[in-house]
Amino acid sequence: MNKLIYHGHSFVELHLKGKKILIDPFISGNPLCDITSDKAECDYIVLTHGHGDHIGDTADIAGRFDAQVIATFELAEYFAKLGASVHHMNLGGSHSFPFGNLKLTIAHHSSSTPDGIYAGDPAGVVIDSGGTVIYHAGDTALFYDMKLIGEMHKINYALLPIGDNFTMGIDDAVKAAEFLNADTVVPVHYNTFDVIRADEAEFARKIESIGRKCRVLKPGESLEL
Ligand code: NI
Ligand code: MN
Repeated sequence: MNKLIYHGHSFVELHLKGKKILIDPFISGNPLCDITSDKAECDYIVLTHGHGDHIGDTADIAGRFDAQVIATFELAEYFAKLGASVHHMNLGGSHSFPFGNLKLTIAHHSSSTPDGIYAGDPAGVVIDSGGTVIYHAGDTALFYDMKLIGEMHKINYALLPIGDNFTMGIDDAVKAAEFLNADTVVPVHYNTFDVIRADEAEFARKIESIGRKCRVLKPGESLEL
């Protein structure tokens, strides 16, 4: 069964075609996370950018499970140098993996690793797994080309940051949902730290008022896809 499990912040776990994929596995230092890194079993780790609250425990998990790290070229190279198995990609490129087709999209943000190394451009991710399409926006500002992403992909689930300060806030994320023409929206990247507090109930109301579905997930909660 395909499913999505939310682990707090931007960390989501996907089960697609029998594979386990972690996106932005921020566990250590994530006060919302419901699991410990020894429980973060996976086949693939997808990273949207190099910031510490996204790469999180990647080096540790990738090493223990021999999971492949999928990221933009420079960020993949960073993990290759740490001994991980990696798949280098870049913006606009897609590749077919055993769990589905994955494309990296633009995101308006910045990207460097916690030790100050340039990590390439930040990205969003579109995964099409047998017609189920999931878009994880990564950390980003609102941008008009989300319309293009929505035109090119019939998005079933859009994971959008709503915490403001570093990314879109609630109103920009509602506009993003409209541009993306997504069926169901899941808010991420909020309430982890004081500076990104956001009212998820307000977000859900505003998403429903534009005729879209909103699923607010508590850490540990999952969604059947
Ligand atoms: Ni970031
Ligand atoms: Mn972030």
